[in-house]
Amino acid sequence: MSDSHAPTKPWSGRFNEPTDAFVEAFTASVGFDRRLYQYDIQGSIAHATMLARQGILSDSERDAIVHGLKQIRKRIEQGDFTWSVSLEDVHMNVESALTEAIGDAGKKLHTGRSRNDQVATDIRLWLRDEIEQIRDAILRLQTALLDKAELEADTILPGFTHLQTAQPLSFGHHMMAWFEMLERDRERLADCNRRLNVMPLGAAALAGTTYPIDRHMTAELLGFSRPAENSLDAVSDRDFAIEFSAAASILMMHLSRFSEELIIWSSAQFGFIELSDSFCTGSSIMPQKKNPDVPELIRGKSGRIFGHLIALLTLMKSQPLAYNKDNQEDKEPLFDSVDNVKGSLKVFADMVPAINCRKEAMRQATMQGFATATDLADYLVRKGIPFRDAHEVVGRAVAFGVAEGRDLSQMKLQELQRFSSEIEADVFDILTLEGSLAARDHIGGTAPNQVRRAIARARERLAS
Ligand code: ARG
Repeated sequence: MSDSHAPTKPWSGRFNEPTDAFVEAFTASVGFDRRLYQYDIQGSIAHATMLARQGILSDSERDAIVHGLKQIRKRIEQGDFTWSVSLEDVHMNVESALTEAIGDAGKKLHTGRSRNDQVATDIRLWLRDEIEQIRDAILRLQTALLDKAELEADTILPGFTHLQTAQPLSFGHHMMAWFEMLERDRERLADCNRRLNVMPLGAAALAGTTYPIDRHMTAELLGFSRPAENSLDAVSDRDFAIEFSAAASILMMHLSRFSEELIIWSSAQFGFIELSDSFCTGSSIMPQKKNPDVPELIRGKSGRIFGHLIALLTLMKSQPLAYNKDNQEDKEPLFDSVDNVKGSLKVFADMVPAINCRKEAMRQATMQGFATATDLADYLVRKGIPFRDAHEVVGRAVAFGVAEGRDLSQMKLQELQRFSSEIEADVFDILTLEGSLAARDHIGGTAPNQVRRAIARARERLAS
C-alpha cells in the first residue's frame, strides 16, 4: 500500500484541515476490506447498468464504467493496483481508480448510492458465496464419513455415557452420528443464506434516493431474491453476519467434539484408532511421541469462532439506527471465521479416510465394563420378569463379575443361574457383542444392517 501521491478524499469538500495521519490509518479499512473487491465491482456494474436503463446515466457512460471496472478487476488480480490508505476503503479505492481511468463518467457511478448500502451489499455478496463453499466442504466431509461408516459397519467399539462403558456400538453407527450433526450444520447455513439474500442497494445513506431507480432490476442482476423492504434496516442490519457466526460456532463445536474423540481414541490407553502420520507431529524431546495435532488445533480453533460470534453481537447491541462506523468492525471476525471454518473442514475431510481402526483393541475394550448387561436384563424381561427386577438381578451378577474379574459372557451357566433360575443356555447368544449389536434392529439403532440402511438413506438425501 502506498500513499506517495495521497489522493484527495471524495468527501473533503466541507473540511478545512487534513485528517491526522494516525487517525487516517486508524480509521481505514482497506487493509482488510480490499478482499471484497470482486463483489464491490460486481455491485457497481449492476448499479450502473440499472442507472442507464432508467435513463439516469447514458449508455456510453455505462459502457465506460463497466469497461473501466473490469479493467480495474484485472489489474487487482494481476497485482498491478496501488491501494491507498488515505482512500480509506475498498469502495473509494476502486471508485477513485475508475475516475482516474475514464474521467468524468467515473464520478457518476456513485449517483443514487452511498457507501452504507454499498458495503452492506458487498459483504452479503461475499458471504453468500463463502457459505456455499462451506456447505460444499461440509458435504465432502459427510461423504468421507459415509464411506468410513460403510467400511466399518460391522466393527465394534464400546459406546460410552459419562465416558463409562455403556453398550456395544457399530463404529459405522458412530460415524453416522457425526454425519447427522453435519447435516444440521449444512441446513442451518442454507437457511442463513436464504435470509441473507436480500438486497440493500437503493437504501443509499439511510432514507433512499431521489432518483427514479429500479431496485427490483438491480436485485435481479445480483441474484438477490428481492430488495430490502426498509432503507434504514437495509443499511444497519448485520443479522446475517451474526446468524452465520452462530451457525459457524455450532459447526466448530461439532468439529471440536469429533476432535476430542479422535484424540482420546488415538491415545495409547484407548488405542482404538491410529491417525495417519501425515496428520500428526512428533515431540522435540520425547522420541516416542506421535501427537494428534490436527484435531487438537481444530478443537482449539473453535474458541476463536465462538469469540467472533460474541464480538458481533456486542458490536451491534448498542447501535442506534442506521449506519455507524462501528460496522466496519464486522469484517475481520467474519473473514477469520470463514477462513478457519474452511480450513478445518478441509483438513478433517482429508483426515477421516486415513483413520485406521484397530478392531481387536476396540473389541477387547468392549469386553470390559459389562457392555452387555442391558442385553441380559432385556433377556430376563422376555422371560416374563419385570424390568426393574431384571435390573436388580443383573446388577448382582455384575457385582459378582467385578469381584471375579470376569465378563458376563465368561461366566458358567450355573453361575448365572444363581442370580435367576430363568437363565438358560441360550443366554450366551445375547451376551456376544455381535448379538448385542444385531438386536438393536430398528431405524436409528446400531444393528449393522440398520447402519447400512441409514447410509443408503443418507446417500439419497445428499444426491437430491
Ligand atoms: N469502510 C466502511 C465499512 O466498512 C464503509 C462504509 C463507510 N460509510 C461511512 N458512512 N463512513 O463499514
